[in-house]
Amino acid sequence: MELTEDDVFAALRRTWQPVARALDLAPGSVIGATLLETELVVARFADGRLLAADVACPHKGARLSAGCIRDGELMCAYHGWRFNAAGACQSIPSLLEPNAEKLALSHLRTYAVQERYGFIWVKLAAAPLGDGRTHELPSVPEFEDAHWSYVLGPPTPFNSGWRREVENYLDMTHFAFAHAATLGKAADHRLPPMDIRATDDGGFQMDAPFPALASPHEQPGKLQSAHHRRQRGYLPNFTTIRQSFADGDERVLLHVPSPRTRTSCTVFWSLAISPDFRGPPATAQLEFAVRVLDEDRRMCESQLPAEVPINPGRSGWGVLVTPGDTLANLFQRQLRRWLRPAPAATAASPLILNT
Ligand code: FES
Ligand SMILES: [Fe+2]
Repeated sequence: MELTEDDVFAALRRTWQPVARALDLAPGSVIGATLLETELVVARFADGRLLAADVACPHKGARLSAGCIRDGELMCAYHGWRFNAAGACQSIPSLLEPNAEKLALSHLRTYAVQERYGFIWVKLAAAPLGDGRTHELPSVPEFEDAHWSYVLGPPTPFNSGWRREVENYLDMTHFAFAHAATLGKAADHRLPPMDIRATDDGGFQMDAPFPALASPHEQPGKLQSAHHRRQRGYLPNFTTIRQSFADGDERVLLHVPSPRTRTSCTVFWSLAISPDFRGPPATAQLEFAVRVLDEDRRMCESQLPAEVPINPGRSGWGVLVTPGDTLANLFQRQLRRWLRPAPAATAASPLILNT
C-alpha cells in the first residue's frame, strides 16, 4: 500500500517540532503557532513554566493566543475564563456558583512542550513511532557549549512543503545558480567527491569538500571558503551542516523546517560558531545566512508540486540525477523506512552509497 500524506503527518505528530524561538516567548507572554495543521496557543508563565494547547477557548472558541497571563493564569480575552499552566480551568467569571463539572469540561487539550537549543518544541502525540521508539531531539553539543557563539536566525516561513526545504538544504549543485549573489560567484556546479551513507540511527550523512575552492572566478571570502562540509540528517526533518575551515575554525548550522500545513513550513535555524572564529562577527554571519536562506526560499516556493511526492514513481522522483541528487534520494529512502519500518532482517541490511 502506498504511503499517504496522512501517514506522514501522523508520524510527525509523534516528533518534537519547533514552534517558536525561546527569546520570542518571554515570561508572562502568549503567542499563537500552527504545527501540522493544528493551531496552538503557547504561553510562558512568570515562573518559567510552558503551556502548549489547542488555541480555541473551550467556552466559545476565541483564540487564546489573543489572551494574556494575568495573576499567574492564562486568561481568555473574550469572557475572561482562566487556565493554569496544566491547562485546567480555574475560573469562569460569569458563573456565580463554582461548578466542578463545568470546570472539568473546560480543561484545555494540552501537548508536551520543552525548550532546547533556543527553541520551543512541541510534540502533538505521545504515542511511540512505528518501530516502538519514542522520538527525542538529537544531541548537537556545539549548541550547548558555552565556548561556542550561538546565534538564532529569524524563523522563516516557506510557502512550500517541509521536504522541499530539507532537499534544498542537502543540495550542493544549486550554489552557482540560486546563490549567484552570495555563495555562487565562487561556487562550482561540478561536485567534489562525496561520501554519503546511512547512519545507524536511521538517518543519513554526507562528507564532502566544499565545492567553492576550485573556482577560478572569484577569490572566495571566509564564509564561502569552508574546505569541508558534513551534512547530517536526523529523521524526519532535523538537519545540521558542519563547515570546517582550513584555519581550524568551524561552524555548525542547524535547520528544522517545521510543517505548518502540507504545503507550508517555517524554517527554524541557528548557527554555532567555534571559539575565536577568524572571520566576520556573528551578526555579519547571520546577515549573510539570511540572504542565502531567502534565495533558497524563492527556489523552494517556485517548485511544483509544492511538496516532494512521498511515493516513488511520481513527479519529482524520476528525474533526480546522480551525483547531485544522491543525498536527496537517500533522504527519501530513509524517510520512507522511518515512516514504515521494515522487518528487522531487512532494516539491518547495510546501505552505503559512495559517489
Ligand atoms: S470564548 Fe474564551 S472565555 Fe468565552
Ligand atoms: Fe541553498
